[in-house]
Amino acid sequence: MEIFLTGTETDEFRQRVAESPHPRELVIDLLRAIQKNHGWVPDAGVELTAELVGISPLQVEEVATFYDKIYRRPVGKRVIHVCDSICCWSRGGEEVLSYLQGKLGIKPGETTADGVFTLLPTCCLGACGEAPAMLVGFNLYGHLTAEKIDEILDNERREALL
Ligand code: FES
Repeated sequence: MEIFLTGTETDEFRQRVAESPHPRELVIDLLRAIQKNHGWVPDAGVELTAELVGISPLQVEEVATFYDKIYRRPVGKRVIHVCDSICCWSRGGEEVLSYLQGKLGIKPGETTADGVFTLLPTCCLGACGEAPAMLVGFNLYGHLTAEKIDEILDNERREALL
């Protein structure tokens, strides 16, 4: 059986919804919790969120598809978000993306055959001073070079497969 929220999490969210003057604000927290447990947010997760918050699935979908770090399709254990905004672009962001594509053998939007990495472009990660930058899972990396990327991928793959 697929678990989207544990019983304790469900109870906690019900409590928070009951106490919140604006329950809709909990949509992102719910989607993130479902994603943490399931890896991504399937339609049933959207429906569960809608039911708990008391809004329509379409309203949840609008939030889910606005944020590029809520995944509505299956992804690898580590999603690589490569920044394609101006500072990173001007400091080699395109080369970083090309290098990752060659190294992983996938295009943006795809997942490696071993299920570890999904590659996605993203807008500014707030690390412009460390451009070019990328986020791998929850880890932010900057001042990227080919050597550094090799090391990061090795470490992240090892952690993901533990
Ligand atoms: S432009 Fe890449 S982190 Fe800001």
